[in-house]
Amino acid sequence: MKHFLSILETPTDEVVRILARGRELRGKQTDVLKDQTLAILFEKPSLRTRVSFEEAMYRLGGRSIVLGQSEVGLGKRESVEDVSRVLAGMAHGMCLRVFDHTNLVKMAKVSSVPIVNALSDLAHPAQALADAMTLADEFSAGDATRLKGRTVVFIGDGNNVARSLAVICGKLGMKFRISVPDQFALSNTWVEKIRAAVPGFDFASSSDPMEFLAEADAVYADTFVSMGEETGKESKLGAFDGFQLNDELLSHCPDHTIVMHCLPAYRGTEITDSVMDGKRSRVFAQAHNRLHAQIGLLAELMGG
Ligand code: CP
Ligand code: NVA
Repeated sequence: MKHFLSILETPTDEVVRILARGRELRGKQTDVLKDQTLAILFEKPSLRTRVSFEEAMYRLGGRSIVLGQSEVGLGKRESVEDVSRVLAGMAHGMCLRVFDHTNLVKMAKVSSVPIVNALSDLAHPAQALADAMTLADEFSAGDATRLKGRTVVFIGDGNNVARSLAVICGKLGMKFRISVPDQFALSNTWVEKIRAAVPGFDFASSSDPMEFLAEADAVYADTFVSMGEETGKESKLGAFDGFQLNDELLSHCPDHTIVMHCLPAYRGTEITDSVMDGKRSRVFAQAHNRLHAQIGLLAELMGG
């Protein structure tokens, strides 16, 4: 594995190794990445991703340099490829949050050091690693290879988070269900790509938010309007009437169902306070797992 741009391109055994490594290194300070530098550049806001990658480098004995988009001007002051060529000669890895996923692909093509997707319009693979870790903590004593047959029900937009979650569920043998208004459903192209990588991927989509609740081991929410989609926000929100994860929806799930959300949450919109703060909620453990999963990721990707 040279780069980490999406779960789709990451072999399943590598996903399993990353999660196991992250688990093994939980709470430890090591020198796995001693004297290595990760260059971090974000075009969009972040709390969890930014802090967890920086802290992960610190815990692995390395360091990070956080660059401001306004000073670098990715694709504006100079081409994305030139930014990549320059950083590859000065840092041991790059971690980028971008609007346009194709910029990551362009940078990866010319980079001699690993590039990590820290969220793009297409995918949020680092989030998916933490999601799988959280499911494994809950259902299989931390062993991601024993999640087979579990069902994750995503309620909301067929966005970057949903795409990456769908793939990691498929790769780990879980069923993936999505309840989403038709116009925001996952594209057939994406689902076919997962099927090509994961023969037998167990997937279903519905425009009825109630449809899959009875089979959920986990119900998952994300914002209905992602970063960069602010234009047309009100009309998009209107399409999600009835898709709020609230006590009524949760009451149709089995007793053991847990609640997940990648955060940030718009409380009162896609999820209510009582569900976020309720006893089934794992959202903060999930946020903390960003750190542990990414320690595993960086150790595997940059540490050999
Ligand atoms: N879940 C997530 O990626 O959060 P941030 O946008 O705060 O990094
Ligand atoms: N789908 C959201 C995820 C935020 C972590 C977005 O892209 O804004």
